[in-house]
Amino acid sequence: MSAERAPGFVPVIAIDGPSASGKGTVASLVARQLGFHYLDSGALYRLTALAAERQGVSWHDEMALAALAERLSVRFEANAVWLDERQVDDVLRSENMGAGASCVAQYPAVRAALLARQRAFRRAPGLVADGRDMASVVFPDASLKVFLTASPEIRAERRYKQLMEKGMDVKIDNLLVELTRQMAERDARDAARAVAPLVREPTAELLDTSAMTIQMAVDWVLARWKHLQQV
Ligand code: DC
Repeated sequence: MSAERAPGFVPVIAIDGPSASGKGTVASLVARQLGFHYLDSGALYRLTALAAERQGVSWHDEMALAALAERLSVRFEANAVWLDERQVDDVLRSENMGAGASCVAQYPAVRAALLARQRAFRRAPGLVADGRDMASVVFPDASLKVFLTASPEIRAERRYKQLMEKGMDVKIDNLLVELTRQMAERDARDAARAVAPLVREPTAELLDTSAMTIQMAVDWVLARWKHLQQV
């Protein structure tokens, strides 16, 4: 009997990819559709950066960051994230915390401190996990591995629309150009780091959503999942 058919085996769908590719939205919708749990692993790196900022710890102090990551007091609800009993969704999604997360995520001790916390999300009937190293490091035995991406221009455009929807001043000159630049900078840092870099795991299936709607991407993942259940 394969491990996947063994009693008690909890399946994982790993969805990795660069920032603003839409992987978070796709992953959470797939989870909802299948009745699976959902892990937004990027939120844990963002929470570590936020906790550090609030406690005056530098984003470059690896050991202090790892100690913080180990002790994080967080709670995930359907549409809310809490840190030390304060709701932090908006600040967590800010560009500043994205940059902070990318910075603290370079450090092996921080990544190690968050590993068990991520694996604890794996509960019956299944888990959809999104991030950068879900397929390669955190859940190497995932049943389905997807590398979801889109061109940097399309991702910058998607982030721009998100910011507009949040009521940000859209008249800022060259915001789109600036977002494209930031996106390329973050990709380069995430891809170049020594531990768990952003790369497509060899067995992950490539899903380029540049010309796709969210629903098309969700349907694609669900179809792959259904196919795997039948073989
Ligand atoms: O997915 P996101 O934009 O919320 O991720 C924020 C940063 O955290 C991203 O720049 C890289 C890092 N990250 C990581 O290194 N590993 C993960 N599994 C998830 C995120």
